[in-house]
Amino acid sequence: MCGIVGYVGNKNAQNFLVSGLKRLEYRGYDSAGVVTLDQEGNATLIRAKGKIANLESCMAKKKRDDVIGIGHTRWATHGEPSEANAHPHKAGSIYLVHNGIIENYKELKSQLKNHDFKSDTDTEVLAALIESFYQDGKHPLVNAVVQALKLVKGTYGIAVVSEKNPEEIVVARSGSPLVVGIGKDETLIASDASALIGHTKRAIYLKDGEVAKVSKDSIEVKTLNAEPVSAKVEEIETNLAAIQKGGYDHFLLKEIMEQPESLAETLRGRVDTKNNLVHLGGPGLSEAELRKIKHLIVVGCGTAHYAGTLASYYIEQFTPEITIETVVASEYRYRQAYIPKDSVALIVSQSGETADTLACLREIKKQGAKTIGIVNAIGSTIAREVDGGTYVHVGPEIAVASTKAFTSQVIAMVMFGITIAQAKGVKNTILRSYIEEIAKLPDEISKLLNSDIPNAVKTMTQKYAKYEHGIYLGRDVAYPTAMEGALKMKEISYLDANAYAFGELKHGPLALVDDRFFEVVLLPKGALYEKAISNVQEVLARGGHVIVITNEEHFDLPVDDIVKITTDLEIFAPIIMNVISQLFAYNMAVAKGNNVDQPRNLAKSVTVE
Ligand code: F6R
Repeated sequence: MCGIVGYVGNKNAQNFLVSGLKRLEYRGYDSAGVVTLDQEGNATLIRAKGKIANLESCMAKKKRDDVIGIGHTRWATHGEPSEANAHPHKAGSIYLVHNGIIENYKELKSQLKNHDFKSDTDTEVLAALIESFYQDGKHPLVNAVVQALKLVKGTYGIAVVSEKNPEEIVVARSGSPLVVGIGKDETLIASDASALIGHTKRAIYLKDGEVAKVSKDSIEVKTLNAEPVSAKVEEIETNLAAIQKGGYDHFLLKEIMEQPESLAETLRGRVDTKNNLVHLGGPGLSEAELRKIKHLIVVGCGTAHYAGTLASYYIEQFTPEITIETVVASEYRYRQAYIPKDSVALIVSQSGETADTLACLREIKKQGAKTIGIVNAIGSTIAREVDGGTYVHVGPEIAVASTKAFTSQVIAMVMFGITIAQAKGVKNTILRSYIEEIAKLPDEISKLLNSDIPNAVKTMTQKYAKYEHGIYLGRDVAYPTAMEGALKMKEISYLDANAYAFGELKHGPLALVDDRFFEVVLLPKGALYEKAISNVQEVLARGGHVIVITNEEHFDLPVDDIVKITTDLEIFAPIIMNVISQLFAYNMAVAKGNNVDQPRNLAKSVTVE
C-alpha cells in the first residue's frame, strides 16, 4: 500500500524513479510524484493525480538530468486523491515521501504554527515537523529526522531529501517496509524490492526503529537512539521475468495460469509420496512440541483469511483432539480473546506486511503462544517476526487480487496440519490420501487450465455480465471456497457478490433470488452432495439462474450452466473449482472493461489499519 522509491548515484534519477514507481504501482495508484535535486540543490517537484502514466506526461515537460531524488505512488488515507495531497510533501528545504499513518498528526499540526499547510495529509505534518528541527540546515538532516520521529505515533516508511544537501537521502522505518539497494556508485531505495530488480541484487532491509543516511557510496544505519547498526546485506531473490506480464494481457491471468508451477514450488522438497510423509523444516517445532498442540488459531485478512478457513476445514478432518479457530485479523487484534495453553497461531499473509495481521502476531506473541508464518514475501516483516514459518514460494503476486497465493496458502497450511497429525501418531492410512492428492494437485490444475474449460468459462461469462448480483453457495469445504470466489468476483468485477453456506440459504438469503441474481454453486462429490442437490433444487424452484461447478459426472439438474470438471482428485477438488471461480471473475472484469490488475479503491498489501 503506497510505494516509495529513491535514487542517489551518477545516473538519471527521474528515469529510475518513474520505472521503480511503475513496478510499485500495484501498491497504490491514485496519485504519484517525484522530486529530484540538481547539484546546487534546486528542486524539480512533479506530482499528478491518477496513474503513473499521468506523472510521466507531466515529467515529459520537466525533464532533468539530476542524479538524486525520491518518489511515491499513493493510496489515499488522509485527504482525497489530488495533486496537492500527492507526495513528495515540501516544508522549507525538505521533501518527504511516506508510507503509513501518523496517528497523532492533528496534535503535532497544532504545534507547527510556522508552516503554511497546503494539503490534508498527515505526511505534510511530518515534513513540517522535520523541518522545524532542521531549519537552517546547520545540523545533519538525519538528526532532524530522528528528533521528529521520536515525537511521532503511528507507522512509517519514509525517505527525505533536502535542498541544502543534494547528496544524501535519509530513510527510516517503523511498521512499513524499506529496502536500501546497494549498487556500484549508486544507492537505491524502495519500499518493495521488486523496484530494485535489474539494478542490484544486494540490499539491506531496514528494521523497525532504524534510520539510515545514504549517499551514492555509503550507507549508515542507526537506531533512533543513535546506536550504530551493522546491517546485514541480503540477496534479492526475485528475477525480472517474475515481475513481468510474460505475454499475458494481465498479471491476474498470468498468475492464475502460473498455479501449477507456483504450487509445485510450495510442495518442492516437502512431500514424500514414497513414504507418505510431509516434511516442513521452517516451523521449527520439535515432535514433542507438535504433539502438545491442542489449539490452532489461524489469523489473516481477506483471501488469506478464506485460505485459513478452508485449510481449517481440512485439518480438522484428520487431526483429532485439536480445536481450530479462524479469525479476521482486524477484529481479533481488538478482542479480549483468551488463548488457551498449548496454542499455536498460523499467521497467514501473502505480503507479510498486512498491518492488522502483523498487530495480531505481536499480540499473540505477547501472550506466549508460538507463531508460525504462512507467508509469501521473503524477508517481510511477518516472516521476520514469527517464531517459525513456511514460505509458500509462489513468487511475486502483482495483481491486486490474490490468486496463486490462495491456492498455496491452503496447501501449506494443510501440510502443517499433516505434520501435527504425523507427530500425534495419526495413522498413515488416513493421511495417505491427503498426501497423494496434494502431490497430484499441480498437474490437476494444469490439466484444467489446458482443457476447454477456460474458453467455455469465457464464453459463459458474456451471458452473466448483465447481472447485478451474484450469490456463491457451497457446503463444507465448498463453503470457504465459495467465500473466496465471491470476494474475487466483487473486487475485480465490482459486481455485488456474496457467499453463503448452502444450509443457511433458507434462513434468509433465499429471499434475494430473482432475475437480477445469478447463483454459483460449488458442488463437489462427497458426503454432503445429496444435501447440496436438494438445496440447488430449492433455488431452481424459485427461478434462480444457477451455474454449477462440479466433479460429479452424473449431475443432470436443469440449471443454466454446468462446468463439469474431470479430475482424479476428490479431497481437493474445491481447489480446482476455485480456479474456475478465478477465471469467471477475471473474464467478468474484462467483459466490464475494468482495470483487472488494479481495481478501483484497492491496493496490494494493506499496511495501514
Ligand atoms: C483479495 C486480496 C486481499 C488480501 C488481504 C491480505 O484478493 O488480495 O483480500 O488477501 O489484503 O493480504 P496479505 O495476504 O498480503 O496479508
